[in-house]
Amino acid sequence: MSTDAIVLLKEDHKEMRRLFREFQDAQDGPPKRRQNLVNQILEALTVHTYLENEVMYPEVRRLLPDLEDDILESYEEHHVADVLCAELATMDADDERFVAKTTVLIENVTHHVEEEEQEWFPKVREALGRKQLQEIGERMLALRPDAPRTPTAPKALKKALDAVTA
Ligand SMILES: [Fe+2]
Ligand SMILES: [Fe+2]
Repeated sequence: MSTDAIVLLKEDHKEMRRLFREFQDAQDGPPKRRQNLVNQILEALTVHTYLENEVMYPEVRRLLPDLEDDILESYEEHHVADVLCAELATMDADDERFVAKTTVLIENVTHHVEEEEQEWFPKVREALGRKQLQEIGERMLALRPDAPRTPTAPKALKKALDAVTA
């Protein structure tokens, strides 16, 4: 199994896209199914953005100062996703705004993931060595079991709040 940071993050993105498609297919079906898929989406996003914010983004910012603007934009995009995730976590699947809010979340994250994969991952891959990317990936794997799994977990809320107050 590869520990390359970009490979690991892309695997997460792939799983997110799969969940997004499943939600889109299920959005007019039973509320229970919608709820179940949104729970899975919230967990996947909470873990992923935590690992990027704690390990990948600060490391890239430190090693590649030229990418600072991309990183700052990414933090803001994560923050928008954090707010939507926290709101969705308190909503019922039969709320009239549930599907609309999930759709906006999916649109935002899809845009963000495309920018990561098409714009800055290639720059990072070019600038950092294989060994450096493996070390970053190993740090993310080590931190993963401690990552928050729901948007309302203390560590996830702290991240959302730090973005406003830092
Ligand atoms: Fe991201
Ligand atoms: Fe990502």
